[in-house]
Amino acid sequence: MANVEFQSISKTFDQQNILKSVDLKIKSGEFLVLVGPSGCGKSTLLRLLAGLEQPTSGEILIDGRNVKGVQPKDRGLAMVFQSYALYPHLTVKENLGFALTLNKTPAHEMEKKIQEVAEILRLTKLLSRKPGQLSGGQRQRVALGRSLVKNPKIILFDEPLSNLDAALRSRMRYEIKKIHQKTKSTMIYVTHDQTEATTLGDRIAILNSGKIIQLGTAQEIFNKPVNKFVAGFVGSPEMNILPAEFLGHKNIDFGIRPDDIQIGDGTAQASFELEEYMGSHYMIYARFQGQLLRITRSQSVSKKTGDLIPLNFNMAKAHFFDRVSELRTNS
Ligand SMILES: Nc1ncnc2c1ncn2[C@@H]1O[C@H](COP(=O)(O)OP(=O)(O)OP(=O)(O)O)[C@@H](O)[C@H]1O
Ligand SMILES: [Mg+2]
Repeated sequence: MANVEFQSISKTFDQQNILKSVDLKIKSGEFLVLVGPSGCGKSTLLRLLAGLEQPTSGEILIDGRNVKGVQPKDRGLAMVFQSYALYPHLTVKENLGFALTLNKTPAHEMEKKIQEVAEILRLTKLLSRKPGQLSGGQRQRVALGRSLVKNPKIILFDEPLSNLDAALRSRMRYEIKKIHQKTKSTMIYVTHDQTEATTLGDRIAILNSGKIIQLGTAQEIFNKPVNKFVAGFVGSPEMNILPAEFLGHKNIDFGIRPDDIQIGDGTAQASFELEEYMGSHYMIYARFQGQLLRITRSQSVSKKTGDLIPLNFNMAKAHFFDRVSELRTNS
């Protein structure tokens, strides 16, 4: 376990400011998820912490110690990537032990560590197989195991599951959460996946254009997005955002999540467009004030395109944003 502190970290590549004075404190043993659009600087932030890049300005502290000049291998951390190259000619056991062999770890210690990690990752029965004889999820577990054998204080994950199919992703998510509970390592996890972000993170940091826009629990971010960008970025299906003039508010936008609109007993009239069956619910598309709204509902509305349907907005769940600054205006 270790805490991490980014102090006014900036990073410039080819005169472009990629990270702009990022301040971020990650507690010892915390699971922090980092999300943001492609190119916003997520991987760069991890690479700076790992020591694979140097900041243009600012300091990084691990357990209160400035790590400037400290080699990546001496920072006590491990990285897990989306594309993990296992050694194809080595067995699972040899792959797991590879870093320890390089370290000249004594054989009995190495054996013990490999067995321990294999147990956590349920790889015990697969130790003599080669990567080519494993499923995608098993391979990803070996990749994870290679990081764990080194007893890292901090594990950095950069979209580790995005190559896997949905079922495997959900299993691995469970696996990673369990590993976090067992090892209590500090984890920093980059993802594009909403479910991973909200289920894994003790806190979520939202990065956009090189800055942290919001830092909080999943609930805080979902219920009180600080601006229009976060409102649109977090939550699936996306929040509906439309001009609030119809509610008598000028220069304000009104946001309402698809779950917070009821069909059937309201005064607002919308025109039904179509519905999609989603298994556990229906997604209804309806036009209101010239804009297409998404509404989730447990039953079908059984309407034809163009039919009028009454809507009721749950105003206790409404979000309001200043149209110019895009900042949240309600508490
Ligand atoms: N070594 C480099 N030299 C020049 N530009 C770089 C370098 N590394 C990253 N960049 C640029 O910095 C920006 C941020 O890159 P980064 O990889 O951190 O984004 P990201 O948030 O991880 O995106 P993605 O979600 O697509 O992985 C991008 O515009 C990228 O092109
Ligand atoms: Mg990246």
